[in-house]
Amino acid sequence: MIQFTETVLRDANQSLIATRMPLSEMEPVLSKLNKAGYYSLECWGGATFDSCLRYLDEDPWERLRKIRAACPDTKLQMLLRGQNLLGYRHYPDDVVRLFVRKSVENGIDIIRIFDALNDIENMKVAVDETLKCGAHASGAICYTVSPIHSLEGFVRFAEEMEALGVQSICVKDMAGLLSPKEGEELVRALKQTVKVPIVIHTHSTTGLGYMTLLKCVEAGADVIDTALSSFSGGTSQPATETMLYTLKEYGYETRVDPALCMEINEYFKKYRDECLSDGTLNPVVMGTQTDVLHYQIPGGMLSNLVAQLTAQNKLDKLDEVLEETPRVRKDLGYPPLVTPMSQMVGAQAAVNVILGERYQSVSTEIKNYIRGEYGKAPGKISEELIKKVLGDEKPIQGRFADTLEPAFEKAKKELGDKAHCDEDVLSYIAFPEQAEAFFEKREMRKNNTFKYRIARID
Ligand code: CO
Repeated sequence: MIQFTETVLRDANQSLIATRMPLSEMEPVLSKLNKAGYYSLECWGGATFDSCLRYLDEDPWERLRKIRAACPDTKLQMLLRGQNLLGYRHYPDDVVRLFVRKSVENGIDIIRIFDALNDIENMKVAVDETLKCGAHASGAICYTVSPIHSLEGFVRFAEEMEALGVQSICVKDMAGLLSPKEGEELVRALKQTVKVPIVIHTHSTTGLGYMTLLKCVEAGADVIDTALSSFSGGTSQPATETMLYTLKEYGYETRVDPALCMEINEYFKKYRDECLSDGTLNPVVMGTQTDVLHYQIPGGMLSNLVAQLTAQNKLDKLDEVLEETPRVRKDLGYPPLVTPMSQMVGAQAAVNVILGERYQSVSTEIKNYIRGEYGKAPGKISEELIKKVLGDEKPIQGRFADTLEPAFEKAKKELGDKAHCDEDVLSYIAFPEQAEAFFEKREMRKNNTFKYRIARID
């Protein structure tokens, strides 16, 4: 049996249209998605939370509750950055635990937990709380390519996660760099070592995605992440219907109903066309970018670098910056190039080239990384760089979150009656400015409705 996780509501939405799909566009097809036979619907976490508050004037918790109510028969899944929750800084344990608890209470069944550095210390609390809440904890390996990352290393990491109690292991290939051959070998090795199901998450960015999924399934993968065809391909996932068709031909048993997929896709096709015509969807992101295979850096990072250099009128330096990027990554102990490390490494490489002297200027983020605020670097950070940046200061030993004071009760007091519930407080802790602006608008809406009613009675 090969199971499918549908990503149209979260990752496809995030990768193709910058997470701008409002709940109102999802609602008409939720009951069909619920009946289509998916292993799970990825629908929350990642950028959805931020986007709800910042752009869509939606309460992310209410969105989750509504999806839950409309999809009682399918597991709902979210993506969580371990100790970073949905952002890029570390939160104290009280906040991480309550965030996980409230996510489950509001409707989440499966939490896919990862850390940008594959530092298991940053995942422990989130995994522990997920299990305590009775939900499914899935541990993700951030797949990356570097001289210090190896198949053996990824398998060891999976074993460590299994020992924490995760109920599945996900190979999370953010950049679409996992090749069919590497995927096949990795899945085979994982199946020989860990007992829990293996999930494959990739992106079609480089064009490898479909071949990789097929090879991973042949090697024994249990669940694949796909997106309905109108929101598939390019920076999104391979198409659900295409994988379903291929796997059926090969005789794999699946539960997803192709007829329902077609109906749901007809619906999303219309929405996709609207997004294309109003510019929300740029056709470029739906194409295939093979440069990424040559540079071994994610597509988003490449386009960021081009934008950054263009803004400074230094695009002629691109080749030099692309040569400097792997050197900076090496100096930093080969962090996986996932947000925010991809931006940090790229920006530092650009500064090194533009100023003509390496590390003459070092960003605050890189300083914090070297200090240990992001966790343990996968490899060794250059001694010279540590000395240059920290001087006599010693890097943090152990978990950065252990140095943080509990924050929930303090934030709750700060917010006073602006927060209506603990979920509001968590929104505020995760995205303070966006949440406050949202609360204000919510209050105004309430008052307007009130005035309107009085006017009617009068
Ligand atoms: Co993804």
